[in-house]
Amino acid sequence: MVKKKKACVFISGSGSNLRSIIKNSRDYNFPIKISLVISSKKDAGGIFFAKKFSIPYLVLDVGREKFEKIALKELLNRKIKLICLAGFMKILSKSFIRNFKGKIINIHPSLLPKYKGLNTFKRVLNAGEKTTGCTVHFVNEKLDNGKTIIKKRVLIDTNDSPERLKKKVQLEEYKAYSIAIRKIYNLVSF
Ligand code: GRF
Repeated sequence: MVKKKKACVFISGSGSNLRSIIKNSRDYNFPIKISLVISSKKDAGGIFFAKKFSIPYLVLDVGREKFEKIALKELLNRKIKLICLAGFMKILSKSFIRNFKGKIINIHPSLLPKYKGLNTFKRVLNAGEKTTGCTVHFVNEKLDNGKTIIKKRVLIDTNDSPERLKKKVQLEEYKAYSIAIRKIYNLVSF
């Protein structure tokens, strides 16, 4: 049995990635335990999953400076060793990222470095791409730019809409995020 590291998931939205990480983390052999969820939106759907699985959560629907100040204190108090961004819509400051160097990871709905930023599905379809996917990567001081941990590819059908493509990519995200977490703790080799 592994000694699980304490992790926190930052969310702003529906939290379907949060749900899948929580479920996978219940495996005795999974390297992390979700000890805290922080939402930057008071109406984020993902708060439901923190409640459902009895995970402590904080709602910090405030400006970035205040968000980071309160979050930092909580993360240190709770000895959090990994921060997983999952649909988190704030851009963290350089100083916050420096405090957790190499300990923040993010999931992005494209095959980075292609399609950084928002509205990826629409942009991918408009560009006539044949494939897209998702990337789990370390967070550094530049947006969607840190070292890749894992990518998963999805084929695009001619009749895919942005919504349909999002569903397909998200199914891969749920697998990718947990593989990435196992991978950074060296439990899987690729
Ligand atoms: C995911 O598609 C992720 O790639 C992006 O935001 C979305 C979050 O979805 N960063 P959810 O809140 O996990 O359902």
